[in-house]
Order: sequence, then C-alpha cells, then structure tokens
Amino acid sequence: MNIYHLSGKKLTNDKCSMINENMSAKLNVNIDHVATIREARKTIEPSIITAAVVCEQAGAHGITVHLRQDRRHIQDRDIELLREVVTTYLNVEMAASEEMLNIALRTKPDAVSLVPESPDEITTEGGLDVIGNFENIKSVIQKLKDAGIFVSIFIDPDLEQIEAAKGVGAQQVELCTAEYAEMTLSARAAHGEGAEKAKAEIERIKNAAERAKNLGLIVAAGHGLTYRNIAALAAVPEITEFNIGHNIISRSVFVGLNQAVKEMIEAVNQS
Ligand code: PXP
Repeated sequence: MNIYHLSGKKLTNDKCSMINENMSAKLNVNIDHVATIREARKTIEPSIITAAVVCEQAGAHGITVHLRQDRRHIQDRDIELLREVVTTYLNVEMAASEEMLNIALRTKPDAVSLVPESPDEITTEGGLDVIGNFENIKSVIQKLKDAGIFVSIFIDPDLEQIEAAKGVGAQQVELCTAEYAEMTLSARAAHGEGAEKAKAEIERIKNAAERAKNLGLIVAAGHGLTYRNIAALAAVPEITEFNIGHNIISRSVFVGLNQAVKEMIEAVNQS
C-alpha cells in the first residue's frame, strides 16, 4: 500500500513508520536560531545542516525555517542545502512576495507557510491578514499548489480569517499562539489575571481549530510555545502539528539539541 504525506508526496518505508493512527500532534522544529548564532559572526558554525539532521534523529517530524526578507538568520543557500538533506518534511515560512514565491518554486520545500513580515519586528507579530490581502495571497497559493507545494497560512485564531484562509485555497492554517504564550510568561501571568486570559485564549484557539477542521483545513499551531505551556494546546485534538523554535534551541544550549527535541516531543505526547 502506498502512503502519502499531507503534501501529497509518496512516503518511503521509513517515513511510513512514523505514521500511526493514534499518534499525537507532529513536531516541526524551527531551527532559525541556529542560523542566528552563525550569522552573529557571519561564519560557518553552528551548522544548520547538522542541526536539521540531529532534530530528525531525535524524532522531529519536520524542520521549519523562516527565510526573512532581511536574511537576518536563514540564507537562500540554507534552503537549497536543507532541501537536499531533510528527509522528513521541510516547511519554509515566508512572506507572500514575488521574490519568496520564486525561491519556493525553485527549491521546492514540502510546505510553504505564508507569514506576515514587517522589517522592524523582532519576530513574527501575529497572523497574516488574509481578508485584507485576499487576491495576492490567493494567487501566490495557486502558484505554490500548482508546483506541488503544500500551503499553510499563519493566522490569528479568528473565525473570519479562517473562512478567508479556506477561500484563498490554503490547505492548512497555523494558528498563532503568541497571545496565549504571552499570558503564560512570568509568575504574574501564572497567578494573576494572566491565568484567566490564557484560559480564554485557549478557548478561542479551540473554537478556531474546530471551525478550521470543519472547513476541511488541517490545523497547526505555533509561536511562543514552551515545554511549560504546550500541554493545554497538545490536548486540542484538531491541532495535528506544532512549529516550535526558540524554546527548543534555548534549551539545547544546556542539554544538547537531541535531548531538547526529545523533551519537547515528550511534552507534546503527554497531553
Ligand atoms: N510559527 C511561525 C509562523 C513563526 O513565524 C514562528 C517564529 O519564526 C514559529 C512558529 C516559532 O515560534 P517560536 O520560535 O516562538 O517557537
């Protein structure tokens, strides 16, 4: 029997062994910050390629990188090399621009996640406004899909944006968990009004995930997720994929990348 990945790609035997009906959500490790360290010195280490291989060997289901317009961490050549090396699933986050579209069509990652991008942001700030950029996003998605690339859109857990995501032809939505994550930081967040707000945000994410699934969209989530705050989201059955970076790479400084990835997989599975 042939088994196909969500992207439509036929899976080889060892990739098939990862598919299991009762499996928890998948973990794609975002390795941008390995490149952030390398770019701090504009040198060749640490190797993004070694990082990807270690993540895969530790059990990650995929590798995510964000090619930013300012190239502050991941470089074009990284995408080309990762495409050669990654054997699980390569997900490239990018803005819906002509330049990025051409890079995706040339390098053919398994998936592209469309994200908003503003030049001064420290990290991605909230989801893409699909309603406000409907025609451009629709046209970019069609070109990506025509090239056999699976398309996800990073959006806030907002029902109208989810409907729009369906309307532009996305196959997956990645729900932005930044607001939830913010509420889980610091003691004040844990004991004060943050705890209530975090609960409310989880409800909002759950409703959004249900709506997206009912519309036939695959549901992912990410941004600001940590070993400590993942459990409530891992318990949402509609969410089948997480993209997590900063917290895993931070922990890897102390315990090594292999161990840090394994611990996050365990945290996702514990729900
Ligand atoms: N998902 C998207 C769309 C992102 O832009 C990012 C950050 O690059 C992440 C997930 C990962 O966020 P974090 O590094 O906070 O885990």
